[in-house]
Amino acid sequence: MKIGIIGIGFVGLSFAAVLGSKGYEVLAIDSDQDKVKKIIKGNTPFYEPSLSPLLQKALKKSLEVSSNTEKAVNECNLIFITVGTPTTSDGNINLNSLKAVAKTIGQTLTNSKNKPIIAIKSTVIPGTNHIIKQIIEKESKKKSGKDFGMISNPEFLREGKAVDDTFNPHIVVIGGEDCKTINKVKKFYEGFYKSTVPYITTNTQTAEMIKYANNSFLATKISFINQIANICQSIPGTNVDDVAKAIGIDPRIGGQFLKAGPGYGGSCLPKDIKALISFSESYGQSPTLLKAVQTANSQQVEILVSFMNKVLTSLKGKKISVLGLSFKENSDDTRESVSINLIKKLLKHKVKIIAHDPMAIENTRKIIGDKISYTKSIVEALKDSECVIIMTPWKNYTKLNNKDLKLMKSKIIIDTRRLLTKKKLDAKYFAIGLGSSN
Ligand code: UDX
Repeated sequence: MKIGIIGIGFVGLSFAAVLGSKGYEVLAIDSDQDKVKKIIKGNTPFYEPSLSPLLQKALKKSLEVSSNTEKAVNECNLIFITVGTPTTSDGNINLNSLKAVAKTIGQTLTNSKNKPIIAIKSTVIPGTNHIIKQIIEKESKKKSGKDFGMISNPEFLREGKAVDDTFNPHIVVIGGEDCKTINKVKKFYEGFYKSTVPYITTNTQTAEMIKYANNSFLATKISFINQIANICQSIPGTNVDDVAKAIGIDPRIGGQFLKAGPGYGGSCLPKDIKALISFSESYGQSPTLLKAVQTANSQQVEILVSFMNKVLTSLKGKKISVLGLSFKENSDDTRESVSINLIKKLLKHKVKIIAHDPMAIENTRKIIGDKISYTKSIVEALKDSECVIIMTPWKNYTKLNNKDLKLMKSKIIIDTRRLLTKKKLDAKYFAIGLGSSN
């Protein structure tokens, strides 16, 4: 069986590298030729732990990378579409890339003897699979279910853990219109995973909805615990991590995604909840809970700025060190990063910022430019600083000690991820979700 993967972002590249490293014949396609050239040389276009060596292994074995979509349509039995589906400014989902791919697939199928299964992995609003099917049918003048197959197969991998999540997914969701096509895709996955991964087979629109419900629920858990954290912070001695640990033991709640912090960011959670709100409103629904989750998330950073203003008496002219720029640890991704959002807000208060991140400085520079200073040394970041705020839970920040703080002008630490709660630091220490007596 030959596998096609169209769109080499996080999902596409992780999937291609994992399958290729196991000897599956894979043809990965991207329209960006510079990106393709880089990947062919074994370089990943973004930082993702363990992905680079896996990609190199896959390229040596059975992974081919190119910009030739037609080749994938003519030669592959199963084609996964993993192109980006960003949101437009009004919150709707932008399907342009997906539609363009569908058009090329349809046009190529017209004169092809191949009968591939097309599986959409990109996150798309319910009903999209049907729209894509219609485009392919119109362009090819062929019939889905007879000349090609259509499947919705959402992906749940996380950045920073993409390789592990691709090898060990918690679920495989397969949505389709006919049992034969669904079973073929299920058989492919069963052959690969050979373990007890739960499978959910359903229709395409339900599969599409599962992904939105999943990400929206994760966002809800985070906003919930962030609100509890804010309440804890006003009760001296209270610790949100103990609260989260205890409620997470209740199997009806579950322990994951209960780490309070500055709010969720990244390329998925904010985008997906926005798209679900916009989609449900177009059907006359009032998604009040989802909107509240979104509001709670955007308020979290505002609360932080007010808190900093209070702790520092005034923000104006202060020198502040920001530790962590990526939206999460083990990633260089700054899309919808709360840290970047915080920096933008602090700059409005005429604050001088020096920022540190092990991986995300280049991506931050593309957004913020030279309005702030950057350093790869934590000690340098803290020199002459009047306040340090930890935004991203990089492991390195847990090692921060009194020696590192020595050159600070005034020793104030704001720890949004509670990395330093157990340390005896010679500083004024504040953390989200810790009720302090100050
Ligand atoms: C998310 C989903 O988890 C994944 O299933 C989907 O395929 C893509 O979107 P990702 O965006 O990579 O993955 O990151 P995730 O680990 O979900 O974190 C998102 C944001 O939430 C980060 O900013 C993170 O710091 C924050 N977060 C996460 C918390 O603040 N607290 C938590 O307990 C968990």
